[in-house]
Formats: sequence, structure tokens, C-alpha cells
Amino acid sequence: MMRRLTCDDLDALVEIETGNPFPAWSRDQLSRALADPELVVFGVVRGGELSGYAVVARLPFEAELQAMLVAERQRRHGLAAELMREVVAQASAWQSERLLLEVRADNAPAKALYRRFGCLEEGRRKGYYPPREAGAKREDAILMSLPLDDPHDE
Ligand SMILES: CC(C)(COP(=O)(O)OP(=O)(O)OC[C@H]1O[C@@H](n2cnc3c(N)ncnc32)[C@H](O)[C@@H]1OP(=O)(O)O)[C@@H](O)C(=O)NCCC(=O)NCCS
Repeated sequence: MMRRLTCDDLDALVEIETGNPFPAWSRDQLSRALADPELVVFGVVRGGELSGYAVVARLPFEAELQAMLVAERQRRHGLAAELMREVVAQASAWQSERLLLEVRADNAPAKALYRRFGCLEEGRRKGYYPPREAGAKREDAILMSLPLDDPHDE
């Protein structure tokens, strides 16, 4: 089941995020995301458990995918693809011109997912992500975007 998450889902959201070896969002950030009227948090539930989530933000002309995570044991079953479909539908409903996102240069699964949805690589931000381990180098971000149909552009 796919649904929009609310403040009542905070504990489940924190649990899935902290189950990721490299959590990106703190409890506080997740709590603020759930309460922010400019953000939508989608969750996909399998077997009664929150198994994945995505955060999309409404910007003045564009939408930005700010988070996408599927629990490790639930991967490769199409859950991220389901979340992407919701995210793209939400951005289209906002009449956003493009969906923007950033992804670590070495994140092959995520890059493959986004490419499958038609996202194009637009650039690279050198050393954007802090190192994941002490002594490692900062990592580059790849900027991607998906042009969305303009309903007024017939
Ligand atoms: C990236 C991530 C969200 C994919 O979730 P998922 O539910 O396993 O993805 P899906 O099963 O929906 O796969 C959809 C498509 O993505 C691509 N894909 C997903 N995982 C892949 C992998 N390990 N290798 C290659 N391609 C992959 C494929 O094109 C796949 O389509 P296919 O199954 O028909 O080949 C998941 O690996 C994850 O949570 N990673 C850690 C967090 C993360 O990196 N988030 C993105 C931050 S920008």
C-alpha cells in the first residue's frame, strides 16, 4: 500500500531511516519534513510495515526529490519504482517544470532507478557529500533532472 505519511508515522520513519547503514536524516529533520506544508512524504507499506519512503519538495518552479529509501531486505521488488511514480505524479500535480535530484556519484542502484524514469544527468558538484568514513575523501554529487509535461503547452 502506498500513502502519504503524517506526523503519526514519525516512529516508523525513524526506524527505517536508522536501519540504513548511512542514515541521512535525523529524527528532528524527519519530524520537520512531516510537518512542512511544502513537502510531501510518501510511504510504501508491505506486510504492515513501512518498507520505503520518499520526500518531495515543492519549489517555486520545480520539485525536488530530497530523499528515497527502501529497507534493505525489501529491495529489488519494485518499491522504489512505485515511490518514484508517486513523486512524479505529485510534481506533475503541482505543475512543476522539472523534478530535480542529487545522487552520490558512486550510487549505481539509485542512478539506474532515476535513469529508468528518464532523469538526465545535468552536472556534477565536486566534493558535495562529506566522507562516510574517517580518512575517506568527500564524494561528488551528480545532479539529475526529469523534465515534466506542461499541461498548458499543447
Ligand atoms: C536506490 C533504492 C531506493 C532502490 O530501491 P529498490 O526498491 O530496490 O528499487 P526497485 O526494485 O524499485 O528498482 C527499480 C529500478 O531501479 C534500478 N535498480 C534498483 N536497484 C538496483 C541495483 N542494485 N542495481 C542496478 N539497478 C538497480 C533498476 O533499474 C530497477 O528496475 P528493474 O528492477 O526493472 O531492473 C535502494 O537501493 C535504496 O534504498 N538505497 C539506499 C538509499 C539510497 O541510495 N537512496 C537514493 C538516494 S539519492
